[in-house]
Amino acid sequence: MRKTFIAGNWKMNMTASEGRAFAAELTAGNLDKGVKILIAPPFTTLQAVAEVVKDTNILLGAQNMSDSESGAHTGEISPAMLKEIGVDAVIIGHSERRIIYKEDDSFINRKVKLALKHGFEVIFCVGETLEERESGNVENVVRSQLVGGLQDISTRELQSVTIAYEPVWAIGTGKTASPEDADDVHAFIRTEIEKLYDIKAADAVIIQYGGSVKAENVKALMSKPNIDGALVGGASLKFETFSPIVNYNK
Ligand code: 13P
Repeated sequence: MRKTFIAGNWKMNMTASEGRAFAAELTAGNLDKGVKILIAPPFTTLQAVAEVVKDTNILLGAQNMSDSESGAHTGEISPAMLKEIGVDAVIIGHSERRIIYKEDDSFINRKVKLALKHGFEVIFCVGETLEERESGNVENVVRSQLVGGLQDISTRELQSVTIAYEPVWAIGTGKTASPEDADDVHAFIRTEIEKLYDIKAADAVIIQYGGSVKAENVKALMSKPNIDGALVGGASLKFETFSPIVNYNK
């Protein structure tokens, strides 16, 4: 039985003081204890939020991480820096990193490996652009992102990886993939994981959907057999919009 996993990706929103106040609101709020919950603030807000969510059931995520341990990497953040703050998980391969900052599969793969080596959970993002969908390439794109990003990741390590399917055309646009279309891709991802690993790994892997998830559509998405959770952007920034997503089943 796969546990529901709802994560909030705050992207480039929330200063440290804003994040601290919002995290306090979340910890005090009535959120479903049966759901695995993670929030991912920007780097400079992590410390403030870590102090609030420490010893609660809300996990702390970073939105990115360097592919290197330390050294001459101006502007980058190392795994040890995130560890010391108390970060539990790292989002890797988000489409905004892939597209705006030109991160490719092998770079992403180095980050996934390094994050796992340091004991972080990883939320590994995949998803196609509108052009790729319209040209009938969803499966090819998602397959090559999976193969490239998960290269040399063992079956045991995969247990610490959540896959987030985020169709690029649905991110921040208000357009959600229909629950049926999303579930089709999730099923495809599960089959690919079976091919790369085995049936046990495929059954166990948590696959989140991301792209304009909100209170109004979360129930329909979550009713699908292969959708195990959500990676939420815009709607994760306010208690009134995030809590009904976490509590969709309450
Ligand atoms: P939105 O929920 O704002 O569409 O963002 C999705 C996303 O990119 C989460 O990582």
